[in-house]
Amino acid sequence: MRYAIAMMAVLAVGAASGVAQAADPIKIKFSHVVADATPKGKGALEFKRLVEQRLPGKVVVEVYPNSQLFGDAKEMEALLLGDVQIIAPSLSKFDKFTKKLQVFDLPFLFDDISAIDRFQKGKMGQDLLSSMKSKGYTGLAYWHNGMKQLSANKPLRAPEDAKGLKFRIQPSDVLLAQFQALGANPQKMAFAEVYQALQTGTVDGQENTWSNIYSQKFHEAQKYISETNHGVIDYMVVANTKFWDGLPKDVKPVVEKAMADATVFANKLAEDINQQDKKRIIDSGKTEIVTLTKEQQLAWRKAMTPVYQKFEPDIGKDLLDAALASNKAS
Ligand code: LMR
Repeated sequence: MRYAIAMMAVLAVGAASGVAQAADPIKIKFSHVVADATPKGKGALEFKRLVEQRLPGKVVVEVYPNSQLFGDAKEMEALLLGDVQIIAPSLSKFDKFTKKLQVFDLPFLFDDISAIDRFQKGKMGQDLLSSMKSKGYTGLAYWHNGMKQLSANKPLRAPEDAKGLKFRIQPSDVLLAQFQALGANPQKMAFAEVYQALQTGTVDGQENTWSNIYSQKFHEAQKYISETNHGVIDYMVVANTKFWDGLPKDVKPVVEKAMADATVFANKLAEDINQQDKKRIIDSGKTEIVTLTKEQQLAWRKAMTPVYQKFEPDIGKDLLDAALASNKAS
């Protein structure tokens, strides 16, 4: 009898561990703050699709868009605590962890997304991916969104038009300085709060890409959008360092390849999504697009670029020069 009970216990443990193995895939929670239909949203879903197709039953990826699980500041903390495993904040949101990434926020530094792409793929750009590893953030890839436009309830044609207005900004000191240089009042605010802030008049304006403006309906709360292309919103996809380093040897390269493939996928789509959303905004008739002349563009550039001086010591001249050089196609 005792033997029979012992045998049953052994079998039960065996069955339980067998079940446990089959039912316990590695779970990757991927949290972000934008909509599924944006470049980042689509990239995250493609990463999920590839990982689950290539590692069936071994790894599952749960994607949480739209600040559903965590908003801006919270997701940075949640990653360190292991509550999520991957996030993809905009490069403006790493200010607290490294000053080097401030290079991406400097206004009018990059001519377009191709220049940014060249810089990111170069040695300095690649080195930046591992620059926060010891702080718990392992950079996996850069994902593009696009160039920023400036919106308000009055037409912004000259830099002076922004004077005295309150603008929502991402938590970046460069962006703070950029708006201060215009005589405007910048206010750091989480992405999820922007629509309401625009609607209630807590802020007068904001800067963002066409895809973020469209998907968050900012254009419905703003009478004008000036096509300034004055800066960029791009992302660093980061994983919790401990989690990433601890992935099993047979799993890690497959997840890495899925990330590389999702990166190519998302980065190819980004420009098209932004152009499509620009068209949708125009077609909605809810806002007026202000197109700037060459002279007006130059005036914005002149008003904003003096901030370079202030940030160059922290960013480093080498990084700044490399970023500038990326404007010339090789
Ligand atoms: C913002 O806060 O405006 C953007 O960084 C949101 C995003 O992730 O694109």
